[in-house]
Amino acid sequence: MPVSKERTLILVKPDGVRRGLVGEVISRVERKGYVVTALRMLNADRATLEKHYEEHQGKPFFEPLVEFMMSGPIVAMIAEGERVIEGFRSLAGVTDPTVAAPGSIRGDLARDQGTKVVQNIVHGSDSVASAEREIAIFFGK
Ligand code: RTP
Ligand code: MG
Repeated sequence: MPVSKERTLILVKPDGVRRGLVGEVISRVERKGYVVTALRMLNADRATLEKHYEEHQGKPFFEPLVEFMMSGPIVAMIAEGERVIEGFRSLAGVTDPTVAAPGSIRGDLARDQGTKVVQNIVHGSDSVASAEREIAIFFGK
């Protein structure tokens, strides 16, 4: 295995699952050339989500974010490949789906719904340290 290989945690959020976009997200990840090495669907509980989003504790959108993420099943997966963390963030597009680039998951498939917290279909880890921390939360060591 090349030493540069990375792993990232991808979540299809409840809006993505509700809208039947799980296959679309997996397909985009695979077509880009990354390999999905683990996958599970779950209803995340508050404790799991508070840990996952601990960097956002205290921000005004934290509680709406946790509520939204508990509003239905999510799909968690590990994707692997060289620079996959950066690569999936690029596939996802920027946080605000209104301005996310067309061609990205958020740019093509999401928009502002006027909700308390922005609903943007996917989560992707933003660094090697976050990826390893988040993978441990959803998949154990
Ligand atoms: P993610 O962690 O889900 O991949 O998204 P991200 O890095 O692009 O965005 P981040 O800043 O980490 O925020 C996490 C999620 O919280 C919601 N959010 N809402 N001002 C707002 O309403 C706001 N800011 C963030 C989004 O669901 C975002 O993806
Ligand atoms: Mg983030």
